[in-house]
Amino acid sequence: MNIIQIIEKKKLGYALTQQEIQFFIKGATDGSIPDYQLAALLMAIRINGMDRDETGWLTLAMAHSGDMLDLSVIDGVPVDKHSTGGVGDTTTLIVAPLVAACGVPVAKMSGRGLGHTGGTIDKLESIPGFSTEMGMEDFIAQVRRIRIAVIGQTKDLAPADKALYLLRDITSTVDSLPLIASSIMSKKLASGARAIVLDVKTGAGAIMRTLDKSIELAQVMVRIGADAGRDVIALVTDMDEPLGSHIGNALEVKEAIDVLAGRVQGPLLDVSMELGTQMLIAAGAADNALKARQTLDTMLVSGQGMEKLRELISAQGGDPEVCAQPSLLPQAKVVCDAHLKDAGYIHRMDTARLGYLAQRMGAGRTKKTDVIDPSVGFVLRHRIGDAVAAGDAIATVYARGEEDIAFAREELLQAITILPEPARPLKLVHAIVTPDGIIPL
Ligand code: URA
Ligand code: CA
Repeated sequence: MNIIQIIEKKKLGYALTQQEIQFFIKGATDGSIPDYQLAALLMAIRINGMDRDETGWLTLAMAHSGDMLDLSVIDGVPVDKHSTGGVGDTTTLIVAPLVAACGVPVAKMSGRGLGHTGGTIDKLESIPGFSTEMGMEDFIAQVRRIRIAVIGQTKDLAPADKALYLLRDITSTVDSLPLIASSIMSKKLASGARAIVLDVKTGAGAIMRTLDKSIELAQVMVRIGADAGRDVIALVTDMDEPLGSHIGNALEVKEAIDVLAGRVQGPLLDVSMELGTQMLIAAGAADNALKARQTLDTMLVSGQGMEKLRELISAQGGDPEVCAQPSLLPQAKVVCDAHLKDAGYIHRMDTARLGYLAQRMGAGRTKKTDVIDPSVGFVLRHRIGDAVAAGDAIATVYARGEEDIAFAREELLQAITILPEPARPLKLVHAIVTPDGIIPL
């Protein structure tokens, strides 16, 4: 088989065969196809797309490019959740302990921050001592023992995705539906969960900005999962503004602790509960949404969810005292409020810009080798729909120095649109996508 002919075929808009896709993925994994040819093919796929069969074959080839985890020694139905990426999107730290507290095994493989979006692994590593690296046997043993483990992507899991993602990031080919769907689902299939709940974000801070595209992405991923014999459901949730109010690694851990302690309610808790509801149903631990929700509420109110987070932190080498005393988390050098100039109502937030602001302040990486500062970020004091007065604090900024404070103040004002006429709060969940169809909400 010849890679130039495969590139040529996709360039002209033809569908590739399963053999051609397998050849491409083998070459991406073992390095036998050079990056410039892989990049050319990725761009041809970005421009001309892939049909259902091609996308499915691509996902399977990528999933099988490395180890396929077998979680069958774990009792119960191992369930996973995955977000397509957002800002202030800290649901895993809330919902994973709540679901595990219900006895459902949560074997979670999470990612690091990417572009403007945060990652669960970076957040967890802000807890002093917490380690997200462990061997597969220890990972499975921990899930059997305490029903929960959260680790980073290992090098042996979907290595083709690792190679292709690096290239996509630097060749402007991230925003391709078949490439996103196969990237996410290859990792989910390889990591072994029987039931998968996807949180597909939509809006200004999401990988797909329009609702139509987000629903289409959800449908493609759900179909791939169903074809592979997994039980998959997707919620399409809002990312037109950050989900939680805290943005930045240690700040987001603190917010998750506050939610599990019952001190904070609102959209972050609500979306976490919606995801948890689907996870319990998918795992067979509840027959309907009402029962699932009641069980999760019990875990929250009784403190069993928080206790499970403590167990997770202890098991992975972290200091569980952060749960009782969040001030043990890394603290920023400088903390200052940012004030609004205009009065009115908050209409829009350029959520990606807010994510890039946190990244620039040190909460994310602009190069692979950058070291994250876990303490930095900001806490938004208002949401879309709120009435605000000139001089109100829009956010509290946590920074490494005065220069970053000044920059953050400017960016916050630029990213948030205030107009004189009233605005409505946003809807949180837009649709549920199952293998049988779309349920608009
Ligand atoms: N997250 C992934 O893992 N892959 C993508 O392509 C996009 C988001
Ligand atoms: Ca993420």
